[in-house]
Amino acid sequence: MFATVREDVGAVMSRDPACRSPLEVWLCYPGFHALRFYRLAHALWGLRLHLLARIVSELGRWLTGIEIHPAARLGRGVFIDHGMGVVIGETAEVGDDVTLYQGVTLGGTGKDRGKRHPTLQRGVMVGVGAKVLGDITIGENSKVGAGAVVVGSVPANCTVVGIPGRVVRREGQRVGPASHDLEHADLPDPVEDEVTAAFRRLAALERQVRELEARLAERERCRL
Ligand SMILES: CC(C)(COP(=O)(O)OP(=O)(O)OC[C@H]1O[C@@H](n2cnc3c(N)ncnc32)[C@H](O)[C@@H]1OP(=O)(O)O)[C@@H](O)C(=O)NCCC(=O)NCCS
Repeated sequence: MFATVREDVGAVMSRDPACRSPLEVWLCYPGFHALRFYRLAHALWGLRLHLLARIVSELGRWLTGIEIHPAARLGRGVFIDHGMGVVIGETAEVGDDVTLYQGVTLGGTGKDRGKRHPTLQRGVMVGVGAKVLGDITIGENSKVGAGAVVVGSVPANCTVVGIPGRVVRREGQRVGPASHDLEHADLPDPVEDEVTAAFRRLAALERQVRELEARLAERERCRL
């Protein structure tokens, strides 16, 4: 138990540059407090004291604004920064050294039963306000951008952003073609397209007129 507490303190100190001492972690970090409630609630859940576990969990939510279901599985060195509004569902699995910011939801889609919450592997970071939904896996060391809504699994070492979440970096390399939407020099020009089409038709008509004139001239020659 002491080792777990030491790791939770170490996680805050190593990942939050604003943190200056272990005492500060004990006194000023709701994410750390929430983990204390969670670890007790999870132990009670393991002893099949489900209602008591839920009560401890609820007490933790009142005091920290962070809701972690006692049946969820959280690894070591997890860091919940700021924390307010974080929700971690019953069948969620959070690996070692994962970082979550305020407003993160590890939730269900509302359509499934059984395992219905996400699995975050070691070293994953989920940015402020992001929602990770359903029985999906976020691979090791991947990053979920602030505000993303992720509903599909993500491989290891990726960055996923947006709604719905899409992978934009894999192993540090940009993924997918460059966005032409933002390449102003390459924007389509409908007026230019129309003018080009009109010139093509004009050239075809000129060709037909020349052919008709040639045929008329030939007929005149024959008549003479
Ligand atoms: C996603 C994030 C982790 C950066 O990851 P990264 O692998 O370094 O990715 P990059 O910064 O190279 O950005 C990759 C692309 O995604 C875009 N992007 C980055 N974050 C984004 C976000 N939250 N939403 C939408 N697009 C985002 C970038 O503009 C970039 O686009 P480009 O490929 O067109 O240039 C970071 O932007 C982020 O969202 N961090 C969350 C931090 C947080 O929650 N802090 C709270 C403190 S209180």
